[in-house]
Amino acid sequence: MIKVQIPATSANIGAGFDCLGLAVSMYNYVTMEEQEGVEIISSDGKPIPTDETNLVYTSAKYIYDLCDKPLKGLRIEQVNNIPMARGLGSSSACIVGGLVGANAMLGYPLRTSELVNIAATMEGHPDNSTPALLGGLVTAVLSNGKVYYVKQEIAEDLRFVTIIPDFELKTKFAREALPKEIPHKDGVFNLSRAALMSVSLYSRNYQNLRIAADDRLHQPYRLSLINGAHEVLDFSYKHGAYASYISGAGSTLMSIISSGNFEFENTVREFLREQGYTGWQVNVLSIDNMG
Ligand code: HSE
Repeated sequence: MIKVQIPATSANIGAGFDCLGLAVSMYNYVTMEEQEGVEIISSDGKPIPTDETNLVYTSAKYIYDLCDKPLKGLRIEQVNNIPMARGLGSSSACIVGGLVGANAMLGYPLRTSELVNIAATMEGHPDNSTPALLGGLVTAVLSNGKVYYVKQEIAEDLRFVTIIPDFELKTKFAREALPKEIPHKDGVFNLSRAALMSVSLYSRNYQNLRIAADDRLHQPYRLSLINGAHEVLDFSYKHGAYASYISGAGSTLMSIISSGNFEFENTVREFLREQGYTGWQVNVLSIDNMG
């Protein structure tokens, strides 16, 4: 029996639209073993597809087919702590769980770099799937089915605060809100900030993060899809966030803070309560440098 732990991921990190992502300490778990027929169980009772359309199953089956191994069936148990459609890489986590689990059951026929390519091609977002596999801070470019990437481990002196609304935001819908074209100067604006985010996180120049998280490619168009987002982002900066941004396609808002900012969590909770956002969840997470 194989057990896989897969981290949540936060893509874009502000300006790094479709190319930057990082892994955090919130996990899904997939347990997998071969048997006759397909049996899929949600151990925590969350609703998941229990037939062959299940993403963990289809990803695992893909590896068996790729390796020419017959598959009579699988027993899969899932614990899904990563909320669905909240910009924390829940789909990537299922795909990575299936790929890694199947690869382990077959005795590791595929290298990690091959899994990186397969996951990104299946999922479509290398900025989620690559950090889900590798951990850390990842810069990833998907080109003709191959991911060109660098993983960097980042220091443990940061906390990643997920402020998770009580509503889903589907990636497809959040991408449809984006313009087809943008002014050249907005492209330049983002390029410089995405580069600054990557190197500043890595080199611990945290005073750069607020400027680096500024973005003109997606957040200006998506903020209005997340009721309360403007207020929460403004509030976070008043209470010491180094950077705050829409995680992935949303709806989660992510604040990067110092590990010494002990007040932040409760201050945000109090703010949400005052604003009437009672169903929102706040988690203080660390970087997952392992994947
Ligand atoms: N970079 C992608 C987006 C991530 O923002 O649409 C999707 O999870």
